[in-house]
Amino acid sequence: MSLLPTDGTDVVVPVLVRDLTPADLPACTWSGSAVHLGQVAKELERAASGEVDYLAVCTAVDLPVAIGGVDYQVTSGAGTLWQLAVLPALQSCGLGSLLVRAAEDRIRSRGILRAELGVEESNPRARAVYERLGYVAYDRQPDAWDVQAPDGSIHRYETMCTLMRKDLS
Ligand SMILES: CC(C)(COP(=O)(O)OP(=O)(O)OC[C@H]1O[C@@H](n2cnc3c(N)ncnc32)[C@H](O)[C@@H]1OP(=O)(O)O)[C@@H](O)C(=O)NCCC(=O)NCCS
Repeated sequence: MSLLPTDGTDVVVPVLVRDLTPADLPACTWSGSAVHLGQVAKELERAASGEVDYLAVCTAVDLPVAIGGVDYQVTSGAGTLWQLAVLPALQSCGLGSLLVRAAEDRIRSRGILRAELGVEESNPRARAVYERLGYVAYDRQPDAWDVQAPDGSIHRYETMCTLMRKDLS
């Protein structure tokens, strides 16, 4: 990761990519609500059985600063990237791109040569990141998930997503 202070000097911070584990979740509250982290915990159970990969980009002190999953059960012959999130204070430093490339390596290592993802139509910046990485839009599809408000209440969030894919060969 490379940060650029106001005096123009590059500061290089080493990071590594590894599997996310249940022990990491208390350090991932920046990625979403307690409900969201509960969903991630369930996905880690699926990771243990090989249905998904769930990755973490970690700093030198092993703290996750970017996390995201690859689901192999959504589309036959493709890995579907989802739940990608970068620690807000470290967005726009290249961590999201690093995470996507690491996810693509995991997909290839299973002999699968297509990556897919859905990005909300209301999130053009994330879409621009994926386009820069070679993803091409091919369809749109509604999606919905539970979100937790600051008062703890849970409601269903409905949205429209652009579906994107990339040939990994
Ligand atoms: C979308 C998201 C995953 C992208 O991750 P990111 O780490 O911010 O993305 P990157 O840094 O790899 O690339 C994005 C930007 O950083 C810039 N950048 C990349 N590497 C850089 C570097 N070394 N130095 C300076 N800028 C850099 C890119 O040009 C790009 O520019 P922008 O800020 O104008 O968009 C992240 O911003 C995020 O978690 N957003 C909130 C949740 C979300 O939207 N998730 C996606 C759901 S589909």
